[in-house]
Amino acid sequence: MKIKVIHGPNLNMLGIREVNIYGPMKLEDINKNMEVVAKQNGFEIEFYQSNHEGDIVDAIQESINEKVDGIIINPAAFTHTSIAIRDAIKAVNLPTVEVHLSNIAAREDFRKKSLISDIVAGTITGFGPFSYHLGLLAMMQILNEIKM
Ligand code: DQA
Repeated sequence: MKIKVIHGPNLNMLGIREVNIYGPMKLEDINKNMEVVAKQNGFEIEFYQSNHEGDIVDAIQESINEKVDGIIINPAAFTHTSIAIRDAIKAVNLPTVEVHLSNIAAREDFRKKSLISDIVAGTITGFGPFSYHLGLLAMMQILNEIKM
C-alpha cells in the first residue's frame, strides 16, 4: 500500500528556520527516517513539498491517479487559512493524518484553528520531527485495518 506525505510552505527550510520552534532537523532527514520505517513495515512512501497552495491541492488530487492509499499532511501555514486544501482532502476521500511539529494549540491564537482537523482521521501536534513518526505509525495502523 502507498502513503503520500505532503509538506506545506516553509517546511523546506527546516533546520534553518526558527530552530527554537521547529528544531535542527532537515526535512530530507525527516523524510529518510519515515522512508526506513515505512519500508520496514512493507509500505511504499512518497514525499512532496510545495510553498504554493494550488500545487498542494494538485498533489492531493493526484493521489487518486497515483493509487495512493493514505495521506500524511502538514499544511504548515495553510492549515489555518486554506479552504481549498480542506476541500481537496474531502474530495479524494482517502484516510488522512494531520501532522505538526509544534504544538499549534499552545501558540498564537491564529494558529489554534486548523481548517482540516475535523475532516482528518486524527492530528498529531507538538512532538517535533517525532510527530511525523507518530503520524506514520497512525497511518500504517489505519491502512492495516483496511487491509484486513
Ligand atoms: C506548523 C505550524 C504552522 O502554524 C506553521 O505555519 C508552520 C508549521 C508545524 O508543523 O508546527 O509552518 O504546521
